Amino acid sequence: MFHEPVLTQKVVDFLIHDRGGLYLDGTVGGGGHSAAMLERLSEQGRVIGLDLDDEALQYAQSRLSGFGARFQAVKSNFKNLDQVRDELQSEKIAGLLLDLGVSSHQIDIPERGFSFSAEGGLDMRMNREQALSALQIVNHSEQQELRDIFRTYGEERRAGLVAKAIVAQREKAEITTTRELVDVVSRVTSRQHRIKSLARIFQALRIAVNEELDNLRAALEKSMDCLAGGGRIVVISYHSLEDRIVKNFFRQEASRCECPPELPVCVCNKRDRLRILTKRPVRASEDEILANPRSRGAKLRAAEIF
Ligand SMILES: C[S@@+](CC[C@H](N)C(=O)[O-])C[C@H]1O[C@@H](n2cnc3c(N)ncnc32)[C@H](O)[C@@H]1O
Repeated sequence: MFHEPVLTQKVVDFLIHDRGGLYLDGTVGGGGHSAAMLERLSEQGRVIGLDLDDEALQYAQSRLSGFGARFQAVKSNFKNLDQVRDELQSEKIAGLLLDLGVSSHQIDIPERGFSFSAEGGLDMRMNREQALSALQIVNHSEQQELRDIFRTYGEERRAGLVAKAIVAQREKAEITTTRELVDVVSRVTSRQHRIKSLARIFQALRIAVNEELDNLRAALEKSMDCLAGGGRIVVISYHSLEDRIVKNFFRQEASRCECPPELPVCVCNKRDRLRILTKRPVRASEDEILANPRSRGAKLRAAEIF
């Protein structure tokens, strides 16, 4: 299995409001969500699936070939959704799905370097044509930059110690594999905290390599202009940094005047641009978590554009 999609029924329920519309799956991966979307849509409804990963695009295109011209896989960063729309000369988009992070397939291939439990090169690029990889960051960033990456993107308390240990190690020899990085991190973390620290350090590097948080912010902002009135945005996030960005963006765009209460009239002219459809994030059921443990951390938020 390339990737088991999470919260599929909820995704389709929140996203599809016009069965003949054009939908953008910004993170097509193995095409599981796209397949469910296409099944819900009418014969006029279409899905464009974006990904940065060639293997995902090939897999999804072949899996969904039965839908003919109603599905198209396109190599693009979802932060460029405005360009995608312009290049395809598309009408306005009825809905955007972002199922963030990496696919099981990417994690399962040791050479991709996403997993700390398998030996592989320090890569972590979703787009293998991109120049920057984890190898460059680990071996060439200043100690302070490394510390900031681990602290900001990993929320790792031992960020400074890990950064220092990496710099000391690479003065002896370049750190080229996941196993070597695991060894360095293990030296400065207690056995009790090791797995969590490794998960945080690897998460932080992955976010930095792929500029994941900047991509998310850009896509949310652009979706305001690219989506049709009544269009839906559905985002599934897997860690608190992503979820906070989505929550705050939705709150900000759902609010009206932000003038201080002491002002007699509004001077900011701020207008609300969306309606939040999920008061609290939607989580997977116990049954889904049992069947697909990856769904445990998933949080789905949805909004409707005015
Ligand atoms: C969690 S998986 C999506 C799984 C998919 N929903 C399915 O049903 O199989 C995330 C996918 O998004 C892709 N991705 C991550 N960031 C991206 C970005 N900024 N632009 C396009 N694709 C991205 C990854 O390469 C990965 O294939």
